Amino acid sequence: MSNYLSELRRRRTFAIVAHPDAGKTTLTEKLLLFGGAIQTAGAVKSNKIKKSTVSDFMEIERQRGISVSTSVMGFEYRDLQINILDTPGHEDFQEDTYRTLTAVDSAIVVIDVANGVEKQTEKLTKVCRMRATPIIFFVNKLDREGKDGFDLLDEIEQKLDLRVCPLSWPIGMGQRFKGVYNMYEKKLVLFNPHGKQEEEEIIVFEDLTSPDLEKHIGESAARELRSDVEVLETVYPPFNKEDYLAGKICPIFFGSAVNNFGVKELLDCFVEIAPTPLPRHAEEREVKPEERKMSGFVFKIFANMDPKHRDRIAFLRICSGKFERNKNYRHIRLEREFKFPNPTMFMASKKTLLEEAYPGDVVGLYDSGNFKIGDTLTEGELLHFKGIPSFSPEQFRYVENADPMKQKQFVKGLDQLMDEGVAQMFTRQSDGRRIIGTVGQLQFEVIQHRLESEYNAKCRYEAVSLHKACWVSAEDPKAMAEFLDRRKRDIAKDSEGQLVFLAETPWILQTAQENFPKIKFSFTSEG
Ligand code: G4P
Repeated sequence: MSNYLSELRRRRTFAIVAHPDAGKTTLTEKLLLFGGAIQTAGAVKSNKIKKSTVSDFMEIERQRGISVSTSVMGFEYRDLQINILDTPGHEDFQEDTYRTLTAVDSAIVVIDVANGVEKQTEKLTKVCRMRATPIIFFVNKLDREGKDGFDLLDEIEQKLDLRVCPLSWPIGMGQRFKGVYNMYEKKLVLFNPHGKQEEEEIIVFEDLTSPDLEKHIGESAARELRSDVEVLETVYPPFNKEDYLAGKICPIFFGSAVNNFGVKELLDCFVEIAPTPLPRHAEEREVKPEERKMSGFVFKIFANMDPKHRDRIAFLRICSGKFERNKNYRHIRLEREFKFPNPTMFMASKKTLLEEAYPGDVVGLYDSGNFKIGDTLTEGELLHFKGIPSFSPEQFRYVENADPMKQKQFVKGLDQLMDEGVAQMFTRQSDGRRIIGTVGQLQFEVIQHRLESEYNAKCRYEAVSLHKACWVSAEDPKAMAEFLDRRKRDIAKDSEGQLVFLAETPWILQTAQENFPKIKFSFTSEG
């Protein structure tokens, strides 16, 4: 096998997602410990904001700015290059998470055994399912009392509308938690609440009918495990890697991240089954990772909030070919060649200068304002990668310049913040007013704060009563012209110049849909 192909097949790029507090940070940290990327617990900074205040958020971002390495965590495990892409912990920044999910090849979803499927679990798995991203579930906190395992499997299947395939099964929980039976490897993994992972007792156990089971876990637990496994084997499909890779079944593991229990089983299975870098769809064609010409897209921009270091880092996911330092690449939107003398990669929690990178890798490019989210780099071919849509925001406000002397700074600041994907901006065509759309309240405060501290501009918000912003399109130009004329007052453009219908109420949206059947109303910018 050529060096290129063997490098490609070594890559596993994924994200860990969860409802806040389910244990994402803890699990990430334990995985990094296994990979030797960090030596001590506590090295991974939680990026979640306990109090939803802007100063709290800024402080966390400032700390993260110092060690940008938390955005992508790379490590080697069993000769594979594992890239974990970090996602924001705060739900007001969901859209950042959605975009990160476009840059991964699979996901691990963490669920708290007591809380089951929560609001964010639903939203995030839905985004994975839109793209058929293979998912593995990790049910966490088995050292605490929680929901019954079977109830939980039902809940996951029903609420998330997918098929699960348990690969491990808990033996008791909370005080009575004895460990898990790993059905994937036919092993009993026994929990020692006071021990370390190295002391985790693993017993190969092919035949659950053997009386030895009683010796290890006691009579009642043995009885229960045998009957549980019998039910599992009749009700749930046997594991099949193709179905997992097609997103048709989702393996489930049980464990306790904080106790480092069940984490190694998860990782060992993950490296065996998780996909190598997958093809990516561009508007023009499908791009395969085996292709030798470099292509990639920017899915995240990280602004350094330290005013002394105003550079930004654009994160490029490599889709095909080998990326090389100091080589010229075509920036498709700007129609210009760029080369990068200092691309960085994030290995072993340290930033390192990178000479080359392969599909699945994420490269950090220093940027002085040339990149927007969704931008494509290639060796010349005209490609536009799809799958980085904007989602219809949930909260809206007019934004106005509050300092007439600083109009230029205000406009530049807003434009750059929108390029970073902090929020979305719509310009209403009838009166030219700018409307900011966000997922949560916190983003408005962040914009205001960053305009002041980074751009020396001031903004003021005004209430606007809006229910949804939908992207509109039509095959029939006459129908579109009529719609635009009749609904003049409600038409805006997003920052890409795409047409958007601003609906004040659900009823207005519904009647518009009924009255204009030739118009397609989309809730994401990619339809
Ligand atoms: P998140 O990134 O998904 O938001 O969750 P995080 O890992 O920060 O974990 C949330 C809380 O759950 C933390 O407690 C963490 O210690 C705890 N936790 C994680 N895994 C387990 C587990 O297997 N069992 C139990 N019992 N708890 C677990 P915290 O009190 O919020 O923070 P900390 O001060 O303990 O770090």
